[in-house]
Amino acid sequence: MNEKKRASRTKGRASAAEADPRAKPGAPAAVNKKKIIALFRGRGAWTTLYTRIKFKICPLIPIEPHIPRRGRVLDLGCGNGLFAAILKRSSPERKIIGLDLDKGKIDQAKTIFQGWAGMDFRVGDVVASDYPRADIITIIDVLYLIPFKAQETILAQCRDALPPGGVLAVKDMDTRPRWKYIWNILEETLAVKIIGFTLGHRFYFQGRREFAERLNHYGFDVEIVPLHKGYWYPHILYLAKKR
Ligand SMILES: C[S@@+](CC[C@H](N)C(=O)[O-])C[C@H]1O[C@@H](n2cnc3c(N)ncnc32)[C@H](O)[C@@H]1O
Repeated sequence: MNEKKRASRTKGRASAAEADPRAKPGAPAAVNKKKIIALFRGRGAWTTLYTRIKFKICPLIPIEPHIPRRGRVLDLGCGNGLFAAILKRSSPERKIIGLDLDKGKIDQAKTIFQGWAGMDFRVGDVVASDYPRADIITIIDVLYLIPFKAQETILAQCRDALPPGGVLAVKDMDTRPRWKYIWNILEETLAVKIIGFTLGHRFYFQGRREFAERLNHYGFDVEIVPLHKGYWYPHILYLAKKR
């Protein structure tokens, strides 16, 4: 099935609206990739490599204009703060709390962003921690590492932490186009199971319609933004607004 037909099916069954990925709801990303990379330079070979690879394979910067420019942001599974850096550099009016299970990454984020106002990084399991109140919650490439049942806990917590109109932005991988999905599984097997770049054991990818329906179930209206064009991976962004 082609992209267009699949998109309209998603819209019909999950009351999700397909957005034009080129339509920028906010101002254009006001961030310089080189300056972000520079923040993570000199933090060890793995960090330098991860940052460079991540920018090459993931549309992190194109996600930014979809995120409201001001408010309290909770970044779940923030890693060493790469996306938080993009958010903060683009709009200092964002106050960011990052939460990640990996103490090494959080320690690194604390060092990198020491002295930055409105940046707070905490060690914690996104499944077991209480979430602080937030206006915006971002989850970038994390859910696929978490079992479906535990994802339910996360979605319920996100709903409870956000006010009506609050935004939950989930960037994950779609299961289509098929070849990108298979390529992604191979790459993640290398990153998670062989090299150990990221904490995790198994993968929990899901199709866009299924995930949009789950977001609907938790009280969110969903806009789907495909972000995979020009990438080998089936990147997809779910912009979920609490009803
Ligand atoms: C692929 S990385 C993405 C990091 C970051 N969001 C980014 O895009 O650069 C996945 C992150 O999720 C974190 N993670 C996995 N399971 C987690 C859990 N249960 N609680 C908190 N963080 C978790 C990992 O430690 C890792 O930093």
